[in-house]
Amino acid sequence: MFASLLLLLAASAYASPIVYPRDVNDTDPFVFTNYNGLNFTQMNITLPNVTIFATGGTIAGTSGSSTATTGYTAGAVGILTLLDAVPQILNISNVAGVQISNVGSEDVTSTLLLKMAKEINEFVCEDPAMAGAVVTHGTDVLEETAFFLDATVNCGKPVIIVGAMRPSTAISADGPFNLLEAVTVASSPLAKDRGAMVVMNDRIVSAYYVTKTNANTMDTFKAVEMGNLGELISDTPYFFYPPVKPTGKKAYSVANVTSIPRVDILFAYEDMHNDTLYNAVASGAKGIVIAGAGAGGVSSSFNSAMEDVINDYGIPIVQSTRAMSGEVPVSDVSSDSALHIASGYLNPMKSRILLGILLANGKNMTQISEAFAGSADD
Ligand code: SIN
Repeated sequence: MFASLLLLLAASAYASPIVYPRDVNDTDPFVFTNYNGLNFTQMNITLPNVTIFATGGTIAGTSGSSTATTGYTAGAVGILTLLDAVPQILNISNVAGVQISNVGSEDVTSTLLLKMAKEINEFVCEDPAMAGAVVTHGTDVLEETAFFLDATVNCGKPVIIVGAMRPSTAISADGPFNLLEAVTVASSPLAKDRGAMVVMNDRIVSAYYVTKTNANTMDTFKAVEMGNLGELISDTPYFFYPPVKPTGKKAYSVANVTSIPRVDILFAYEDMHNDTLYNAVASGAKGIVIAGAGAGGVSSSFNSAMEDVINDYGIPIVQSTRAMSGEVPVSDVSSDSALHIASGYLNPMKSRILLGILLANGKNMTQISEAFAGSADD
């Protein structure tokens, strides 16, 4: 019913520039096309307005078996089906839906990231009537998209990234409740000025720090050292702290960015070969992140190869850690060369996203070093 309401463009498409006015006593869902061209379902004028951007993933996944939590098809059902499963959303918020893509998150590209950031800025940040945004996403690379949106959408409105660990066809699928909680947080005035957040499994976690800690279980998204920002009990958000900005976090614009340069991640291991580095450069990487051992460590031979690449090609190399948590301090890499860049508390995946944004914005080696230095403790 909800889906057909969303589909049903009011015959005389009602376009309102700012407040979406309506009789406050009218309790029937009302569908119209807003001035951005989004089909908007308004339940009640007094409720906040939220736009849901759907990208795919397990939350939109289906399986032939209601007990299967592996071997299913991610990104199989569209946003209308997702919303149909949770009509309770309309008690919390008026919603518009945008289908950005419908793919497993491994197929999310930097082109899609730019599209998401630009559309959230346009449809949510620039629309004074819109309270916040929700992005439904596969969980596998969710933390990368969340970090990207945290860095590039900076209007103070909540941007909530949500996924599911069980496909929509599973018994006790987690997607519907996660989606309800995500919309609840996106609608909440308490969620303003906290950057992007991941909401799953009743937890609210900073997009800057969150990581997927378990490949299979529902309690997977955590900020291991930093903890949660808050939680939801009976669909009411509770924040443990007032709004606060992660140390070293900076805002970037992608308004004029049309592509993100290629940045490769190289995973360090015992007896690592230097040609992995040279191959990345030869293949066109414009920046490299090392998932180093411990606090960014690589062999002395690999270290010399990195010096060659930095000096001969001017390619920035960020040393992060392959460990689940902890930091790579500046002092641990700068003893080799002033050009070595420490990732601070950013893991390899987040370091890669940040380096791509910096390169896309034309930052030089010094500016890149400074941008990363903020997230290290020295
Ligand atoms: C994906 O990341 O798209 C598949 C896995 C998931 O969503 O949990």
